[in-house]
Amino acid sequence: MNEEALYKKKFPVTGGDFDKAGEVSTQIKAILKTTGIDNDIIRKVAIASFEAEMNVVIHAEEGKIEFILTTSSVIINVADKGPGIKDIDLAMQEGYSTASDDMREMGFGAGMGLPNIKKSADDFEIKSKVGKGTWVRITIHHEQK
Ligand SMILES: Nc1ncnc2c1ncn2[C@@H]1O[C@H](COP(=O)(O)OP(=O)(O)OP(=O)(O)O)[C@@H](O)[C@H]1O
Ligand SMILES: [Mg+2]
Repeated sequence: MNEEALYKKKFPVTGGDFDKAGEVSTQIKAILKTTGIDNDIIRKVAIASFEAEMNVVIHAEEGKIEFILTTSSVIINVADKGPGIKDIDLAMQEGYSTASDDMREMGFGAGMGLPNIKKSADDFEIKSKVGKGTWVRITIHHEQK
């Protein structure tokens, strides 16, 4: 495999911090805008990274998002410390959400985040350990010109 990392950056995410929520995905989008990567690809990365970031803010205590740009892909690794997910198949279903009423009042909790990440990604992996945390890897290929 001749996939070479061109750029890597790690960002912290704090659970419950709605003032900063979305900042990491905004920064990732800004970095990608400087690369000449297709706007449709950037839009997919922005959607997927935003949903993954919001899941840490809403459901977990703290996390890290690692953004990797390679010669062929954008990779977003998200690892959090939090309650974890008991049933991943259920969590992947459209409309399934454990978000509280408070979260729903803020407009979250449609249960569409994970399904939308999967749709936006070329490759999507999720692992979780109850009481420990959740790990998500999103890969989106970009065309080489
Ligand atoms: N990082 C996480 N830690 C713990 N639980 C999670 C995490 N991400 C998702 N979940 C669980 O999976 C469910 C579905 O997640 P999903 O992102 O699809 O929907 P949501 O976050 O509840 O609502 P929406 O994303 O539409 O605002 C969540 O309600 C939660 O129970
Ligand atoms: Mg979500």
